[in-house]
Formats: sequence, structure tokens, C-alpha cells
Amino acid sequence: MGLLELKELTKEYKRGVRSFNAVNHASLSVEPGDFISIIGRSGSGKTTLLNMGAGLLRPTAGTVLFEGRNIYGLRDKDISFFRNEKIGYVPQGQSLLSNFTVFDNVCIPWFLWKREGDVEGRAFILLEKVGISHLAASYPRELSGGEMRRAAIARSLINEPRLLIADEPTSDLDAETTAEIMTLFSRIAGEGTAVLIVTHELDTLAYGNKTYSMDAGNLLPVIERGRL
Ligand SMILES: Nc1ncnc2c1ncn2[C@@H]1O[C@H](COP(=O)(O)OP(=O)(O)OP(=O)(O)O)[C@@H](O)[C@H]1O
Ligand SMILES: [Mg+2]
Repeated sequence: MGLLELKELTKEYKRGVRSFNAVNHASLSVEPGDFISIIGRSGSGKTTLLNMGAGLLRPTAGTVLFEGRNIYGLRDKDISFFRNEKIGYVPQGQSLLSNFTVFDNVCIPWFLWKREGDVEGRAFILLEKVGISHLAASYPRELSGGEMRRAAIARSLINEPRLLIADEPTSDLDAETTAEIMTLFSRIAGEGTAVLIVTHELDTLAYGNKTYSMDAGNLLPVIERGRL
């Protein structure tokens, strides 16, 4: 049984009188330890697919199974709890809460769920891992795009997710930081968390073990090989 199974997922949107499938019968199986990359042109349906896989967007048709459970069979509130516990999500673009410091942004998913443990210590370790521990007390408006992105990555890992989903996580980053983030993701995958990313940079594909391409809503496997 896969960790995450997307079965024949379809999302239909209407634009004016015309309707179209932003995602068209897409199927994908994610196993623990997988590091999967999805590439594809702008508008091909990548974010729509990730959002459905993360429990954020109800599909028009098809099924999302997480650890064998049909997540859209749950109530919305239960989907949120479930996602917060099991899935780390790095959305496309800026997603930090502007009235909170970087440190608090990273800790928020922890406090949305009643948890025990040293969240401060863990948040600090994650900020060090992504190279911005010196910005812990800063507010998002005081950060560069790449620094905000790194804070969002630290936030996505605070609850030790079983699956990390990241939508173009390195799009604002220089080559060196991109390599650092990809190495971090690769290590996380090696520790058993599955990683599913959308990427524009072809260089980053080498870090994953599976690549898919998205073309006008259709998801197709590209290549399979051992991780770098
Ligand atoms: N809420 C919506 N209503 C109608 N159409 C939508 C909606 N959201 C997305 N779309 C359309 O669905 C298609 C897929 O969008 P999506 O955001 O998934 O693309 P993408 O592959 O992530 O693109 P990018 O690389 O630019 O982020 C696009 O044509 C987009 O305009
Ligand atoms: Mg997108």
C-alpha cells in the first residue's frame, strides 16, 4: 500500500461558458522514502494536482488515499487536522503570516495541534538547517524572497510529516541554496519521509528517484532511477 495514492484525479474548472480539466485522470503512487519531482509548463495543472493530493482542494472525480484512507471521505475539519499532522506543505509563492515573526511562523503548525515536546528547540534546529536562524526574530516583510521560502520550508517540517509537498520550493533561490535545500529534501526522503515537489529547474531532478511531467492536465512518468 502506498503512502499517498492519487487515483484518476480530475479537476474540472469553468471559464466563461467553456469547461476544461485542469487535471485530467491523473494517477500517482507515493511510497515512503520516495522523492518525486513533477515538471511541466505554466498552467499545466501542477499546483491543482498538489492541492488535491494535500487535501486542500476537492477533486471533481477520482480518489486520494493517504495511508489507505480516503481523505475526501472525511469532514473538512478532520481533513485539516489530518493534513496538519501528516503532511508538510510549502505553497507556491509567499505564504508566511505577516504579523508573526519567522520563529512563530515556523512554530504555528505545531500549536494548531495539541502536542508535547520542545517545539522551540526543534524550530531553531530547522531554521539552522535552512540557514536563517539569525532571522528568527524578524518579520516576513524584512526578509528576501529566498529567505521567506526557506522559512516556509522550515515550517513545513516542524510536525515531522510523513509526506512533504513543495510547490516550486527553490524558485527564488540561488544555485547554491537550491543545492542545499535539495540535499536537505534528499536527506529527509532518506529518513523515510516521502517528498513530492513541483520544479522548474531541471538541475533539481537529479535529487529525486522519480520524475513525472504534466502536460495540459495529463500526468506522465518520465524517468526512474536511484537517488543521487
Ligand atoms: N480556481 C480556478 N478557476 C478556474 N481555473 C483555474 C483555477 N485555478 C487554476 N485554474 C486554471 O487551471 C490551470 C492549471 O492551473 P495550475 O495553477 O494548476 O497550473 P500550474 O501548472 O501550477 O502553473 P504554474 O507553473 O504557472 O504555477 C490553469 O489554466 C489555470 O488558469
Ligand atoms: Mg503552480
